[in-house]
Amino acid sequence: MELATFNPFGQDHKDLYRTLEWARTHQPIFFSEALDAWCITRYDDVREIAGDPQRFSSKSAIIRPTGLPPEATKIVDFIWDNLPITLTDAPEHRFVRRVAHAGFGARTTRRYEDGVRAIIQEEVDTRSSVSEFDIAEFAHVIALRSVLHVMGIDPETMGKWSGWLADIHSIMFGSHTHTSDELVASGKRCAPAIDYLIDLADRRIASPQDDLASAWGAVAIDGQKLSRSQLANLLFSFIVAGWESTADALSNIVHTLLRTGKWNDLVSGQLDVEAAVQEGLRFDTSVIGTFRTVVHKDTEFRGIGFKQADLLLLLYCSANHDEVQYKVPETYDPYCPRSQAAMAFGYGIHNCAGAPLAKMELNFAIDLLAQRFPDLELSGRLPPAPRQLSIFRGPQSLHVKTNSPGLPG
Ligand code: HEM
Repeated sequence: MELATFNPFGQDHKDLYRTLEWARTHQPIFFSEALDAWCITRYDDVREIAGDPQRFSSKSAIIRPTGLPPEATKIVDFIWDNLPITLTDAPEHRFVRRVAHAGFGARTTRRYEDGVRAIIQEEVDTRSSVSEFDIAEFAHVIALRSVLHVMGIDPETMGKWSGWLADIHSIMFGSHTHTSDELVASGKRCAPAIDYLIDLADRRIASPQDDLASAWGAVAIDGQKLSRSQLANLLFSFIVAGWESTADALSNIVHTLLRTGKWNDLVSGQLDVEAAVQEGLRFDTSVIGTFRTVVHKDTEFRGIGFKQADLLLLLYCSANHDEVQYKVPETYDPYCPRSQAAMAFGYGIHNCAGAPLAKMELNFAIDLLAQRFPDLELSGRLPPAPRQLSIFRGPQSLHVKTNSPGLPG
């Protein structure tokens, strides 16, 4: 199998899992020239590297785009220069992670339950009278509304955020495929997003309210607080990390449930929503993988000599299909107790800081969809076309139909 050209980002992903299965058996750590990175495919190897931040740095967990026009570089500089939680190592990471956790841990997330459920209920109700709609569009709306709600961002700005985030996405992942003029336009269009967050940080530091921006602004760890730019960037990191990851996960899970007929089990109550979500996160992982960089020179790992600054791609999606860990990994089986927790949310100090919110959104959304649309069916192009240019894996659109549209019950 040709692995030198392997690139799971921005490609048609249809053979991804077959390629990774082959790699896990024959060449579990291989070098992709297309990515200029070593690809790590086995569960144990991914876990060991993710769990060893002293040897494997997160400074390039997402590759910093270079060669951009100044309008786009300004956005990149803001993200990278203000303590980005995903892209820092200890001790800075420990500080920012403790701040994040102080306002947004597993327990504190529960206080957002009513608001998040109400958002999802409203979006389900909005679609109740139509016979066909797009799950991917629904998923993007509820994931963005939920994360903005939790961050304390004015819901009136929702329309602007989807545009801003699309432009930020083009800058982060599209430096090779977009023209310079397109990147200039994207940089100009999304600059107000940063201004908005800095202004919000200022206002919440000066006059705290009952939201996360205020909570984070007030937290002091060993007497140290976030600066206003760092607070703005923490809000930004959570919005970016929490939007498409969750939207794609929801689309992938609904797709799998409908494709395998398990939707009916969910509707009849035979299948538990949490089990459906849990196995769905393993089976069709929405975050393909993230990068690490080798810290020391001559680092030996499983008989391979990595050089200092070598890039490693931790393929969470592959780890979640590792046949050593999971019985029949290529089957979606929510009834089979899996001996290993899936690594959909990563592992180690950088594991997902928003997992409780993500699970809450997914559980509510699947539950409310199943209640309102018991006869949901896939329609439109199948398999759906994947979204391009992203570390996230999910469909561009996922059309579904129902024979029983009705008014909210
Ligand atoms: C199903 C949805 C989600 C999936 C699959 C997911 C997956 C992941 C993964 C794999 C990582 C580890 C990255 C690494 O190893 O470098 C991560 C980190 C992170 N996630 Fe999520 N995520 C989801 C939803 C969310 C949500 C809803 C939020 C915020 C509201 C969020 C915020 C974050 C943050 C801030 C980090 C960085 C943590 C750190 O570096 O310390 N995620 N996520």
